[in-house]
Amino acid sequence: MSAYQISICLIVVGICCSWADGLGVNWGTMATHPLPPKIVVQLLKDNGIRKVKIFDADAATMNALAGSGIEVMVAIPNNMLGYMIDYETAKKWVNQNVTRYNFQGGVNIKYVAVGNEPFLTTYNGSFLNLTLPALQNVQTALNNAGIGDTIKATVPLNADVYNSPVSNPVPSAGRFRADINDLMTEIVMFLNQSGAPFTVNIYPFLSLYDNPNFPVDYAFFDGTSTPVVDNGIQYTNVFDANFDTLVSALNAVGLGNLPIIVGEVGWPTDGDINAKVSYAQRFYNGLLRRLTVNQGTPLRPNQYIEVYMFSLIDEDAKSIDPGNFERHWGIFKYDGQPKYALDPSGQGQNMMPVAAKGVQYLPQKWCVFNPNGGGDMSKLGDNINYACSRSDCTALGYGSTCNGLDANGNASFAFNMYFQVQNQMTQSCFFQGLAVETTQNPSTADCNFTIQIVSSASACSFATLLMVFVSVLALLFF
Ligand SMILES: *[C@@H]1O[C@H](CO)[C@@H](O)[C@H](O)[C@H]1NC(C)=O
Ligand SMILES: *[C@@H]1O[C@H](CO)[C@@H](O)[C@H](O)[C@H]1NC(C)=O
Ligand SMILES: *[C@@H]1O[C@H](CO)[C@@H](O)[C@H](O)[C@H]1NC(C)=O
Ligand SMILES: *[C@@H]1O[C@H](CO)[C@@H](O)[C@H](O)[C@H]1NC(C)=O
Ligand SMILES: *[C@@H]1O[C@H](CO)[C@@H](O)[C@H](O)[C@H]1NC(C)=O
Repeated sequence: MSAYQISICLIVVGICCSWADGLGVNWGTMATHPLPPKIVVQLLKDNGIRKVKIFDADAATMNALAGSGIEVMVAIPNNMLGYMIDYETAKKWVNQNVTRYNFQGGVNIKYVAVGNEPFLTTYNGSFLNLTLPALQNVQTALNNAGIGDTIKATVPLNADVYNSPVSNPVPSAGRFRADINDLMTEIVMFLNQSGAPFTVNIYPFLSLYDNPNFPVDYAFFDGTSTPVVDNGIQYTNVFDANFDTLVSALNAVGLGNLPIIVGEVGWPTDGDINAKVSYAQRFYNGLLRRLTVNQGTPLRPNQYIEVYMFSLIDEDAKSIDPGNFERHWGIFKYDGQPKYALDPSGQGQNMMPVAAKGVQYLPQKWCVFNPNGGGDMSKLGDNINYACSRSDCTALGYGSTCNGLDANGNASFAFNMYFQVQNQMTQSCFFQGLAVETTQNPSTADCNFTIQIVSSASACSFATLLMVFVSVLALLFF
């Protein structure tokens, strides 16, 4: 082996083993052009990511994960909770989506997420009566299938299931939300009994987004001039304060030692004035530094915390009801290109994550506004709205990367986003004569006009087109 080969090996080993042990990622697929699962699994491997949380148990995803050894949290979406209150249905789900992959060379499933933030107040209590019976049935089905010792059912909950009173807003005063206190108590008793962890999603970004007076420094991990003082403990960041509010709530029901895993935590990079690369990098650098040394929190010091970053890849088809930032949570862009350097070993060594390999792009073509094409200018607004309602224009808003475009640039951006979503089909760059295709990249220094990728979905439609073409030829010639 030459010195050169040895150093290559060292580099590869360095990359593969350098991520903090407890560090996982959320892999969501609400995109118009999701990256093919095989490419994503290779991306995880290339970056040494050993844990992944998904939002379903999609067969293509599971097959791609098979044999990788990566630990997986699969999920039952909220809209299926209602079915799971029937034990036979829960049993069938576990058989088809969990047991089926439980073999040598199969999928290394660790957890089943029962619902996703089912007690968000925006759901108006729709899942209050369903979640606990679903959780019980799923764990019982896992137990009866003989895999309950190693695979645990849990419920990823948003951090608003607990709080401290307004009159005493300190972590030690944390309790479960009054309206669901009895239910939460039953749930955590069940989790304790089955040996499952409490899963919570914590979002310092949302603290900042929801409250313009929130001290910016308190969202990060490098100190603040306005710490929260609680029984002599100084809280200098909202992550610790939030986590310990949960510890106190658990303590209040006699389960102060229940294991907690953080199902989602992260920072978006576009779609809001505070959603930007520099903040995302600052946030993760602070978080990863603490995780790698098992710093824990004031109420649980020196502890390993299992954490799933939100998220792996941007998702351009997510609902933007919570805000325009929703489509920009990825550490990677839509095409698997990294956005910023990270320090996954927590040793102060920022490095660019390894990009996705083997991604295929559509041709280098864009669709732009054409003021001289003879189109009816009075229809421009309607056409922009049409394009944006069917694609992702969130980068145009206030505080976002493309907010500096002029009116013509806005129109071009909208038209291009639609054109790319439509796989650059010729008819999709018409807009009543207001648009034209170009091979000149209209991107600016701040604002990227994207070229979409060939996703599994669009590869399918190409295949379909090809089949139609072949059948037509066959008809003509035979
Ligand atoms: C999971 O199992 C159910 C049957 O209970 C099935 O309908 C569903 O398609 C499976 N999910 C996936 C994503 O394969
Ligand atoms: C919750 O209730 C509000 C007001 O009654 C309604 O607008 C909203 O659609 C409801 N949401 C759900 C998820 O049912
Ligand atoms: C949940 O069950 C309780 C008691 O059975 C009932 O009063 C309540 O209306 C139910 N809530 C929903 C949202 O179905
Ligand atoms: C939690 O679970 C353990 C182990 O099963 C049990 O000994 C303990 O009593 C439980 N705690 C509560 C408060 O139920
Ligand atoms: C471009 O669109 C954004 C979002 O709709 C809007 O805020 C901005 O004012 C527009 N810019 C111009 C110059 O029209």
